[in-house]
Amino acid sequence: MNVLLASSEVHPYSKTGGLADMVGALSKALARKGHRVGLVTPLYTGIRERFDLRSRPDLPIDLPLGMRRVAGEIWTREPEENLTLYFVDQPEFFQRAELYQKDGVDYADNAERFTFLSKAVAHLAAHLDWKPDVLHLHDWQVALAGLLVQHQRQLPAWSHLPAVVVTIHNLAYQGLFPDYQFALTNLPWDYFNPAQAEFYDKFSFLKSGLTSAHIITTVSPRYAREIMTEEYGCGLDGLLRLRQHSVAGILNGVDYDEWRTTGNEFLQYSYTQSDLTGKLKEKQALQAELGLPDRPDTPLFGNIGRMVEQKGVDIMLGALESMLTEDLQVVILGSGSPLFQSRFQDLAARFPNKLRVQIGYNSGLSHRIEAGSDFFLMPSRFEPCGLNQMYSLRYGAIPVVRRTGGLCDSVIDFQDNAASADGIKFTEYSSQALAKAMQKALAIFHDPQLLQHYRTNGMTVDFSWERTADGYLTHYADAVLACNSGQK
Ligand code: ADP
Ligand code: GLC
Repeated sequence: MNVLLASSEVHPYSKTGGLADMVGALSKALARKGHRVGLVTPLYTGIRERFDLRSRPDLPIDLPLGMRRVAGEIWTREPEENLTLYFVDQPEFFQRAELYQKDGVDYADNAERFTFLSKAVAHLAAHLDWKPDVLHLHDWQVALAGLLVQHQRQLPAWSHLPAVVVTIHNLAYQGLFPDYQFALTNLPWDYFNPAQAEFYDKFSFLKSGLTSAHIITTVSPRYAREIMTEEYGCGLDGLLRLRQHSVAGILNGVDYDEWRTTGNEFLQYSYTQSDLTGKLKEKQALQAELGLPDRPDTPLFGNIGRMVEQKGVDIMLGALESMLTEDLQVVILGSGSPLFQSRFQDLAARFPNKLRVQIGYNSGLSHRIEAGSDFFLMPSRFEPCGLNQMYSLRYGAIPVVRRTGGLCDSVIDFQDNAASADGIKFTEYSSQALAKAMQKALAIFHDPQLLQHYRTNGMTVDFSWERTADGYLTHYADAVLACNSGQK
């Protein structure tokens, strides 16, 4: 099958979160199965300097954007057989310090930037000589391409355009803009209605994609069910219920080429479930790196992520407040809301021998935290999939998670199944419930046999991309059928 993917971030070229990991790994997994895969993404600052790219004057980009025309260039790279990256080079839009915002505030021209990106995606979908069967769009930044393709497909010359699949990585981010910005699309205003691009008088990029997609997917089965409820649906639950037969949840995989405990460039020691000596050394190395007391027998809890409400940072602050009186250590790496950042730093100042908070983004340290931790905290309010809990399982850091979305689907609690238990789950969204789960973790830590049982289960569970990629292929086939039968 020929598949063209599009995403505003792709590991290892650009990344703010799990979207980049997921798209980078899915494209590789599909290509390795022998499919022809293209992946469209912006050429951000620094990519050309770090990677060898090829200029493609044969793929010119010159597109209307409301009242003006904007030109761009395409650069390609083929990191492996069957996989081509198409970087959209438009310096005014993409050569910036960050991907989406500056000092925590979204760039004022994000509607222009991502309409242009979506147009470039739709343009490539129509003009690539290898003719994609499926266009797979990830999140709001490229979702508009679905509507652009739907519009073009109705014109006789373009009837061969691909079927459209849209994946929701996080329904809380929809790309909502004032209605007048719909003019940037140069589409007829007929599309600006509540069954297509309009969401309560606003122009919604994500809704434009969802309503034009043949198949909608999201990144875990449980989140697929959750987003059809008012509580998690962010105002789109009605639409998703209406299309429930075209909505699927596929759990993300883990790229074990990168997330590995042996031969990992970021770790000093290697280890496996049958010999954890290296893990203990990693723990001591982490304590030394971050200036925590050298205490191999003290349980160490890790946490990595965006410091935003979604991730449950408020209940984590509350739980730590009470738990830091116990004999334990906590290491936190992240950045996000300035308020949360300073609350974590204040707490760390009060417990200097127990809590370390590193503000910023550091991928090497993220591997060392996974390797050095005994437990990994992920108390999210909601979590479409979540990758860190799956990385933790492989690294022998037992995840402590809330029963929501992909966290619930990927971790097994003692209550779910004692024989395969590999993590601790709690349900209520409160500091008390999280603190209680951390108490359970302490009890496990002090029972060496039980600790080993959890670790072995976690380290041997397999979330490789093979199965996830097959899930997508099944839905691609359904999308092609729906497209050929004239739906959308
Ligand atoms: P989300 O995409 O919602 O942020 P995920 O768990 O799916 O959450 O993915 C987060 C990804 O980003 C993981 O690969 C994680 O290691 C990485 N990450 C998040 N924050 C940081 C950070 N401060 N430093 C390094 N890596 C980070
Ligand atoms: C989003 C979600 C996260 C998911 C990631 C990759 O960022 O918040 O739960 O793991 O996308 O699909």
